[in-house]
Amino acid sequence: MTATGKQDLRAIPDALLEWYDAHARDLPWRSPPGDAPPDPYRVWLSEVMLQQTTVAAVKPYFEKFTATWPSVDALAKAQDADVMAAWAGLGYYSRARNLVKAARAVAQASAFPGTEKGLRALPGVGEYTAAAIAAIAFGQRAVVVDANVERVVARLFAIRQPLPAARKAIRAATDRITPDERPGDFAQAMMDLGSSLCTVRAPKCLICPLAAACEGRLQEPETLPVKAPKKVKPVRRGQAYWIERDDRVWLVARPGTGMLGGMRSLPDDGWNAGGDGSGIAPLDVKWTLLGTVSHGFTHFALEMDVLGATAETDPPGQGTWWPVAQLDDAGLPTLFAKAARLALSDARS
Ligand code: ADE
Repeated sequence: MTATGKQDLRAIPDALLEWYDAHARDLPWRSPPGDAPPDPYRVWLSEVMLQQTTVAAVKPYFEKFTATWPSVDALAKAQDADVMAAWAGLGYYSRARNLVKAARAVAQASAFPGTEKGLRALPGVGEYTAAAIAAIAFGQRAVVVDANVERVVARLFAIRQPLPAARKAIRAATDRITPDERPGDFAQAMMDLGSSLCTVRAPKCLICPLAAACEGRLQEPETLPVKAPKKVKPVRRGQAYWIERDDRVWLVARPGTGMLGGMRSLPDDGWNAGGDGSGIAPLDVKWTLLGTVSHGFTHFALEMDVLGATAETDPPGQGTWWPVAQLDDAGLPTLFAKAARLALSDARS
């Protein structure tokens, strides 16, 4: 192999798989290199959890889900609210809603679809996830490109076009090096290489199995892939209400669609429906400002004031008085878990 522009493309998967045989990460959803593919249920569940989420964050959730629902049939029979609560803290909650829908579709059909096209028809399974499941669980040759692979390939082929426009070229280049044999191991080896050696900063080119084939290695690999400048996120304001009565706090269930849909939360003023934070508080009582929590969503940042009060009556609408001492079991999404922490630190101070 030489980094002269005349790359021996076949040598790339060979060198990578040899490296993977020795260095593959041991992850709970994986088979060891060269072994039979893992259970498609575990592959699908892990890939959905790993969308926009790190391996370290996913591991405990994966263990909890597979212990509670060991098969797709078990998950298909779960209560929506239990799955939403188990997902709390992982973010991007539409994934959990789609997870239950997809599990029911698979249980109904009695098997996972075994092709990329069939997999894509499942709720929550896009191009990347379908390719990853087809390769890892079904041994099919599929072009698998996640953010790690994007970085490895942009460097390997010195693709200087900025993302996201470069995606087409990166995909075509990945296609050229994807082997017919062991496509699942190849995809996961690319991911491991990206997370351990071909890192965003300070890539370890000296010990990289692909160094000899890498066009970007001698051209400041840290500058690749080039990214188009990020848009500044707009800031929205909102309010959430901490209403206590006899060591219990009033929790509501959010509507099934929309942001954090189906999750349990503190009542709020409807910031999520595009409100400006001037919505109506749920009770006509004296409110105390406990503080403000900041939270980043994909398309905006939220600054949410947390107002506290003690209630003599039930607030209007549906809700539950949840014991404050058992709030960890309520499955609050991170934004509201932050608000609760703030309220509790205030109450204890
Ligand atoms: N990221 C997404 N899928 C992954 C996998 N199968 N192994 C490691 N990291 C991943």
